[in-house]
Amino acid sequence: MAEQNDAVMEFLLTRRSPPAKTLSLPAPSRTELVPILTAGLRVPDHGKLEPWRLIVLERAGLDRLADLTQERARSLGYDDEKTEKGRGQFTRSPLCVAVVETRRSIEKVHALEQTYSAGAVCLSLVNAALASGWGASWITGWPAHDAELAASALGLGPDERVAGFIHIGTPSAAPPERPRPDLGVSVTWAG
Ligand SMILES: Cc1cc2nc3c(=O)[nH]c(=O)nc-3n(C[C@H](O)[C@H](O)[C@H](O)COP(=O)(O)O)c2cc1C
Repeated sequence: MAEQNDAVMEFLLTRRSPPAKTLSLPAPSRTELVPILTAGLRVPDHGKLEPWRLIVLERAGLDRLADLTQERARSLGYDDEKTEKGRGQFTRSPLCVAVVETRRSIEKVHALEQTYSAGAVCLSLVNAALASGWGASWITGWPAHDAELAASALGLGPDERVAGFIHIGTPSAAPPERPRPDLGVSVTWAG
């Protein structure tokens, strides 16, 4: 058995994401982001297809995405509240990494397994950012699921979709406690 890593277990047992709304500057620099992105992409990946890619959105990219989100909301006739909810996540964000699922040939590895791997990238990025001392939050909202916005604003292709927007910055407050799953409910010991 490999040696026990108490620090990592302590981290995993206590990790919490601050709400994205509580994240502000400073955000990690490009240099600080490199190990976070490297750890984020170190995930299980059946067939080594790398069915994902990352788009790092800094201030200019976030402002552009916010504007295009607002335009898209207007063209869809969304009300002010829904428009602002979509746009606001980008105007408020100190830095955001868009995790893009890029589906490869589904004959080799089922499409769903590629989706799971992209989800693993999202969590791995959040954890790497938290472990580096930043606040991080995995958000989607309607902009993540709007294929036309993803194509025009982020350049996504027909086999791509947004798995998550990972917002990273400095939390202004400690993350609120959140009830965690009860093992008695969530786990079956099959013997
Ligand atoms: C796929 C996915 C999408 C999510 N989208 C949102 C969202 O749009 N808005 C939101 O407030 N939380 C969203 N969440 C929830 C937060 O990322 C997170 O689960 C919650 O704040 C607690 O995180 P923690 O377990 O890291 O503390 C989403 C979670 C997942 C897995």
